[in-house]
Amino acid sequence: MQLSHKPTKAQSLVNFILVSSSFCALYVVVSVLLLGPSNLVRVNNASQSVSIATTLDHLVFGIASSKISWPKRKEYAKLWWNTTTTKGCVFVDSLPDEEHDRNENDTSLPPLCVSQDTSRFRYTHRGGLRSAIRVARVVAETVALHNDSDVRWYVFGDDDTVFFPENVVKTLSKYDHELWYYIGAHSEVYEQNRLFGFGMAFGGAGFAISSSLARILANVFDSCIERYPHLYGSDGRVHSCLAELGVGLTHEPGFHQEFD
Ligand SMILES: *[C@@H]1O[C@H](CO)[C@@H](O)[C@H](O)[C@H]1NC(C)=O
Ligand SMILES: *[C@@H]1O[C@H](CO)[C@@H](O)[C@H](O)[C@H]1NC(C)=O
Ligand SMILES: *[C@@H]1O[C@H](CO)[C@@H](O)[C@H](O)[C@H]1NC(C)=O
Ligand SMILES: *[C@@H]1O[C@H](CO)[C@@H](O)[C@H](O)[C@H]1NC(C)=O
Repeated sequence: MQLSHKPTKAQSLVNFILVSSSFCALYVVVSVLLLGPSNLVRVNNASQSVSIATTLDHLVFGIASSKISWPKRKEYAKLWWNTTTTKGCVFVDSLPDEEHDRNENDTSLPPLCVSQDTSRFRYTHRGGLRSAIRVARVVAETVALHNDSDVRWYVFGDDDTVFFPENVVKTLSKYDHELWYYIGAHSEVYEQNRLFGFGMAFGGAGFAISSSLARILANVFDSCIERYPHLYGSDGRVHSCLAELGVGLTHEPGFHQEFD
Protein backbone atom coordinates (compact mmCIF):
# COMPACT_ATOMS: atom_id res chain seq x y z
CA MET A 1 0.00 0.00 0.00
CA GLN A 2 2.57 2.50 1.13
CA LEU A 3 4.93 1.70 -1.73
CA SER A 4 2.31 1.99 -4.40
CA HIS A 5 1.19 5.30 -2.94
CA LYS A 6 4.56 6.98 -2.83
CA PRO A 7 5.31 7.51 -6.52
CA THR A 8 1.87 9.04 -7.05
CA LYS A 9 2.44 11.43 -4.19
CA ALA A 10 5.88 12.38 -5.46
CA GLN A 11 4.50 12.72 -8.96
CA SER A 12 1.71 15.02 -7.85
CA LEU A 13 4.19 17.09 -5.83
CA VAL A 14 6.38 17.44 -8.90
CA ASN A 15 3.34 18.42 -10.93
CA PHE A 16 2.32 20.88 -8.28
CA ILE A 17 5.78 22.45 -8.21
CA LEU A 18 5.88 22.61 -12.01
CA VAL A 19 2.47 24.24 -12.17
CA SER A 20 3.24 26.73 -9.39
CA SER A 21 6.61 27.55 -10.96
CA SER A 22 4.99 28.25 -14.30
CA PHE A 23 2.47 30.52 -12.62
CA CYS A 24 5.24 32.35 -10.80
CA ALA A 25 7.24 32.68 -13.99
CA LEU A 26 4.15 33.95 -15.78
CA TYR A 27 3.53 36.40 -12.95
CA VAL A 28 7.08 37.73 -13.21
CA VAL A 29 6.82 38.12 -16.98
CA VAL A 30 3.47 39.88 -16.70
CA SER A 31 4.80 42.12 -13.93
CA VAL A 32 7.78 43.12 -16.04
CA LEU A 33 5.59 43.84 -19.04
CA LEU A 34 2.91 45.74 -17.18
CA LEU A 35 4.62 47.38 -14.28
CA GLY A 36 8.28 47.72 -15.10
CA PRO A 37 11.30 46.61 -13.08
CA SER A 38 10.59 48.73 -9.99
CA ASN A 39 7.98 46.24 -8.80
CA LEU A 40 10.40 43.36 -8.83
CA VAL A 41 12.23 44.19 -5.63
CA ARG A 42 10.82 41.17 -3.77
CA VAL A 43 11.46 38.67 -6.55
CA ASN A 44 15.04 39.53 -7.42
CA ASN A 45 16.38 36.18 -6.30
CA ALA A 46 15.22 33.48 -8.68
CA SER A 47 15.23 30.66 -6.12
CA GLN A 48 13.28 32.72 -3.58
CA SER A 49 10.70 33.99 -6.03
CA VAL A 50 9.44 30.50 -6.83
CA SER A 51 7.96 30.06 -3.40
CA ILE A 52 5.43 27.28 -3.05
CA ALA A 53 2.41 27.60 -0.81
CA THR A 54 2.73 26.67 2.85
CA THR A 55 1.50 23.17 3.64
CA LEU A 56 1.49 20.92 6.69
CA ASP A 57 4.91 19.66 5.56
CA HIS A 58 6.34 23.05 6.47
CA LEU A 59 5.13 22.89 10.08
CA VAL A 60 6.78 21.30 13.11
CA PHE A 61 4.86 20.82 16.35
CA GLY A 62 6.34 20.92 19.84
CA ILE A 63 3.92 19.63 22.46
CA ALA A 64 4.56 19.92 26.18
CA SER A 65 3.57 16.97 28.31
CA SER A 66 4.96 14.87 31.15
CA LYS A 67 5.37 11.27 32.16
CA ILE A 68 2.35 11.59 34.46
CA SER A 69 -0.06 13.40 32.16
CA TRP A 70 0.74 11.79 28.80
CA PRO A 71 -1.01 8.41 29.30
CA LYS A 72 -4.32 10.25 29.79
CA ARG A 73 -3.78 13.28 27.58
CA LYS A 74 -2.62 11.34 24.55
CA GLU A 75 -6.29 10.83 23.72
CA TYR A 76 -6.35 14.52 22.71
CA ALA A 77 -3.35 14.08 20.42
CA LYS A 78 -5.07 11.12 18.74
CA LEU A 79 -7.80 13.51 17.62
CA TRP A 80 -5.52 15.54 15.40
CA TRP A 81 -2.08 13.94 15.00
CA ASN A 82 -1.39 11.95 11.85
CA THR A 83 2.03 10.29 11.75
CA THR A 84 2.21 10.39 7.96
CA THR A 85 1.61 14.12 7.71
CA THR A 86 2.47 15.72 11.05
CA LYS A 87 6.02 16.41 12.22
CA GLY A 88 7.25 17.09 15.71
CA CYS A 89 7.53 15.69 19.19
CA VAL A 90 5.77 15.43 22.53
CA PHE A 91 8.18 16.45 25.26
CA VAL A 92 8.09 14.53 28.53
CA ASP A 93 10.27 14.77 31.64
CA SER A 94 10.90 11.02 31.41
CA LEU A 95 9.32 8.12 29.56
CA PRO A 96 6.06 6.72 30.98
CA ASP A 97 6.51 3.45 32.85
CA GLU A 98 4.06 1.41 30.85
CA GLU A 99 5.37 0.25 27.53
CA HIS A 100 2.08 0.94 25.75
CA ASP A 101 2.23 4.61 26.83
CA ARG A 102 5.50 5.20 24.99
CA ASN A 103 3.87 5.38 21.55
CA GLU A 104 6.51 3.07 20.10
CA ASN A 105 4.17 0.88 18.09
CA ASP A 106 1.20 3.18 17.88
CA THR A 107 1.17 4.78 14.47
CA SER A 108 -1.55 7.25 15.41
CA LEU A 109 0.54 9.01 18.05
CA PRO A 110 3.40 11.50 17.94
CA PRO A 111 6.89 10.41 18.99
CA LEU A 112 7.97 11.14 22.55
CA CYS A 113 11.11 13.17 23.20
CA VAL A 114 12.67 13.36 26.64
CA SER A 115 13.39 16.95 27.65
CA GLN A 116 16.90 17.94 28.57
CA ASP A 117 17.87 18.51 32.19
CA THR A 118 16.85 21.98 33.45
CA SER A 119 18.11 21.77 37.04
CA ARG A 120 20.79 24.39 36.34
CA PHE A 121 18.17 27.10 35.70
CA ARG A 122 16.77 29.15 38.58
CA TYR A 123 13.05 29.23 39.34
CA THR A 124 11.99 31.66 42.06
CA HIS A 125 8.24 32.22 41.57
CA ARG A 126 6.51 31.29 44.81
CA GLY A 127 3.77 28.77 44.37
CA GLY A 128 4.66 28.05 40.75
CA LEU A 129 6.13 24.91 39.26
CA ARG A 130 9.69 24.81 38.03
CA SER A 131 8.55 22.52 35.22
CA ALA A 132 7.69 25.84 33.53
CA ILE A 133 11.36 26.04 32.56
CA ARG A 134 11.33 22.61 30.94
CA VAL A 135 8.14 23.45 29.07
CA ALA A 136 9.51 26.82 27.92
CA ARG A 137 12.60 25.06 26.57
CA VAL A 138 10.38 22.91 24.32
CA VAL A 139 10.72 25.88 21.96
CA ALA A 140 14.51 25.66 21.79
CA GLU A 141 14.64 21.86 21.81
CA THR A 142 12.10 21.56 19.01
CA VAL A 143 14.15 23.90 16.82
CA ALA A 144 17.32 21.97 17.62
CA LEU A 145 15.66 18.65 16.65
CA HIS A 146 13.94 19.91 13.49
CA ASN A 147 16.18 22.56 12.03
CA ASP A 148 16.04 21.81 8.33
CA SER A 149 15.63 24.59 5.84
CA ASP A 150 12.13 23.58 4.72
CA VAL A 151 10.59 24.23 8.13
CA ARG A 152 8.58 27.45 7.92
CA TRP A 153 6.71 27.48 11.21
CA TYR A 154 7.14 26.01 14.66
CA VAL A 155 3.83 25.47 16.45
CA PHE A 156 3.64 24.91 20.20
CA GLY A 157 0.95 23.73 22.55
CA ASP A 158 0.12 21.67 25.60
CA ASP A 159 -0.81 18.01 25.60
CA ASP A 160 -4.49 18.94 25.86
CA THR A 161 -4.34 21.46 23.01
CA VAL A 162 -6.38 20.26 20.06
CA PHE A 163 -5.13 21.62 16.74
CA PHE A 164 -6.96 21.59 13.45
CA PRO A 165 -3.82 21.31 11.31
CA GLU A 166 -5.50 22.46 8.07
CA ASN A 167 -6.77 25.59 9.83
CA VAL A 168 -3.35 26.29 11.33
CA VAL A 169 -1.80 25.98 7.86
CA LYS A 170 -4.41 28.32 6.40
CA THR A 171 -3.83 30.93 9.11
CA LEU A 172 -0.04 30.79 8.91
CA SER A 173 -0.08 30.93 5.10
CA LYS A 174 -1.11 34.58 5.41
CA TYR A 175 2.29 35.44 6.83
CA ASP A 176 5.81 35.41 5.42
CA HIS A 177 7.82 32.88 7.43
CA GLU A 178 11.03 34.62 6.45
CA LEU A 179 9.99 37.58 8.58
CA TRP A 180 9.81 37.44 12.36
CA TYR A 181 6.37 36.44 13.60
CA TYR A 182 5.02 35.39 16.99
CA ILE A 183 1.40 34.40 16.42
CA GLY A 184 -1.22 33.47 18.97
CA ALA A 185 -3.88 34.96 21.17
CA HIS A 186 -4.33 36.44 24.59
CA SER A 187 -6.59 34.79 27.12
CA GLU A 188 -10.36 34.91 27.01
CA VAL A 189 -10.25 35.59 30.74
CA TYR A 190 -9.62 39.27 31.50
CA GLU A 191 -8.02 38.55 34.86
CA GLN A 192 -5.39 36.31 33.28
CA ASN A 193 -4.48 39.02 30.78
CA ARG A 194 -4.23 41.53 33.61
CA LEU A 195 -1.88 39.24 35.50
CA PHE A 196 0.25 37.97 32.63
CA GLY A 197 -0.13 40.63 29.97
CA PHE A 198 -2.31 41.27 26.94
CA GLY A 199 0.65 40.88 24.61
CA MET A 200 1.39 37.29 25.52
CA ALA A 201 0.29 34.21 23.57
CA PHE A 202 -1.22 31.79 26.08
CA GLY A 203 0.48 28.43 25.70
CA GLY A 204 -2.59 26.28 26.24
CA ALA A 205 -4.24 27.84 23.20
CA GLY A 206 -1.22 27.09 21.04
CA PHE A 207 1.01 29.62 19.31
CA ALA A 208 3.35 29.74 16.34
CA ILE A 209 6.77 31.24 15.67
CA SER A 210 8.17 31.73 12.17
CA SER A 211 11.26 29.63 11.51
CA SER A 212 13.48 32.65 10.88
CA LEU A 213 12.58 34.01 14.32
CA ALA A 214 12.55 30.62 16.09
CA ARG A 215 16.14 29.90 15.04
CA ILE A 216 17.33 33.18 16.51
CA LEU A 217 15.23 32.68 19.64
CA ALA A 218 16.58 29.16 20.15
CA ASN A 219 20.14 30.46 20.07
CA VAL A 220 19.57 33.00 22.84
CA PHE A 221 16.93 31.15 24.82
CA ASP A 222 19.01 29.63 27.61
CA SER A 223 20.79 32.85 28.45
CA CYS A 224 17.49 34.72 28.20
CA ILE A 225 15.45 32.58 30.62
CA GLU A 226 18.14 33.09 33.27
CA ARG A 227 16.94 36.70 33.36
CA TYR A 228 13.34 35.68 34.21
CA PRO A 229 13.51 33.19 37.12
CA HIS A 230 10.73 35.15 38.85
CA LEU A 231 8.13 34.57 36.14
CA TYR A 232 5.36 32.05 36.74
CA GLY A 233 4.86 30.12 33.52
CA SER A 234 6.50 28.81 30.39
CA ASP A 235 4.57 31.06 27.99
CA GLY A 236 5.66 34.12 29.99
CA ARG A 237 9.28 33.12 29.47
CA VAL A 238 8.82 32.71 25.71
CA HIS A 239 6.99 36.04 25.59
CA SER A 240 9.76 37.83 27.52
CA CYS A 241 12.52 36.45 25.35
CA LEU A 242 10.66 37.45 22.19
CA ALA A 243 10.10 40.92 23.66
CA GLU A 244 13.87 41.18 24.11
CA LEU A 245 14.21 40.53 20.39
CA GLY A 246 11.74 43.33 19.74
CA VAL A 247 8.92 41.09 18.56
CA GLY A 248 5.34 41.63 19.65
CA LEU A 249 2.38 39.29 19.38
CA THR A 250 0.45 39.03 16.13
CA HIS A 251 -3.08 38.29 17.27
CA GLU A 252 -4.93 35.41 15.63
CA PRO A 253 -8.11 34.53 17.50
CA GLY A 254 -8.11 31.03 15.95
CA PHE A 255 -5.65 30.10 18.69
CA HIS A 256 -7.94 30.11 21.66
CA GLN A 257 -8.49 28.71 25.08
CA GLU A 258 -11.70 27.02 26.02
CA PHE A 259 -13.36 27.74 29.32
CA ASP A 260 -16.50 26.06 30.56
C1 LIG B 1 19.14 33.29 -3.38
O1 LIG B 1 18.44 32.49 -2.44
C2 LIG B 1 19.09 31.26 -2.14
C3 LIG B 1 18.22 30.43 -1.24
O2 LIG B 1 17.40 31.21 -0.42
C4 LIG B 1 20.46 31.55 -1.51
O3 LIG B 1 21.12 30.34 -1.23
C5 LIG B 1 21.28 32.41 -2.46
O4 LIG B 1 22.51 32.75 -1.83
C6 LIG B 1 20.53 33.66 -2.86
N1 LIG B 1 21.29 34.39 -3.88
C7 LIG B 1 21.47 35.72 -3.85
C8 LIG B 1 22.23 36.29 -4.98
O5 LIG B 1 21.03 36.40 -2.93
C1 LIG C 1 -3.18 10.52 7.54
O1 LIG C 1 -2.83 11.18 6.35
C2 LIG C 1 -2.79 10.36 5.21
C3 LIG C 1 -2.23 11.18 4.06
O2 LIG C 1 -2.95 12.36 3.88
C4 LIG C 1 -4.19 9.84 4.95
O3 LIG C 1 -4.17 8.98 3.82
C5 LIG C 1 -4.67 9.06 6.18
O4 LIG C 1 -6.01 8.66 6.01
C6 LIG C 1 -4.58 9.92 7.42
N1 LIG C 1 -4.87 9.13 8.60
C7 LIG C 1 -5.81 9.43 9.47
C8 LIG C 1 -5.95 8.52 10.64
O5 LIG C 1 -6.52 10.42 9.35
C1 LIG D 1 6.41 -3.04 19.86
O1 LIG D 1 7.09 -3.72 18.79
C2 LIG D 1 8.23 -4.43 19.20
C3 LIG D 1 8.94 -5.00 17.97
O2 LIG D 1 8.08 -5.09 16.87
C4 LIG D 1 7.82 -5.54 20.19
O3 LIG D 1 8.94 -6.25 20.63
C5 LIG D 1 7.11 -4.87 21.38
O4 LIG D 1 6.64 -5.87 22.26
C6 LIG D 1 5.95 -4.03 20.92
N1 LIG D 1 5.41 -3.30 22.07
C7 LIG D 1 4.10 -3.25 22.34
C8 LIG D 1 3.74 -2.45 23.54
O5 LIG D 1 3.28 -3.81 21.67
C1 LIG E 1 19.75 25.89 12.86
O1 LIG E 1 20.47 25.84 11.64
C2 LIG E 1 21.11 27.07 11.30
C3 LIG E 1 21.69 26.93 9.92
O2 LIG E 1 22.23 25.66 9.70
C4 LIG E 1 22.16 27.40 12.37
O3 LIG E 1 22.78 28.62 12.06
C5 LIG E 1 21.45 27.51 13.70
O4 LIG E 1 22.38 27.73 14.74
C6 LIG E 1 20.65 26.25 14.03
N1 LIG E 1 19.87 26.51 15.22
C7 LIG E 1 19.75 25.63 16.22
C8 LIG E 1 18.96 26.05 17.38
O5 LIG E 1 20.24 24.52 16.17
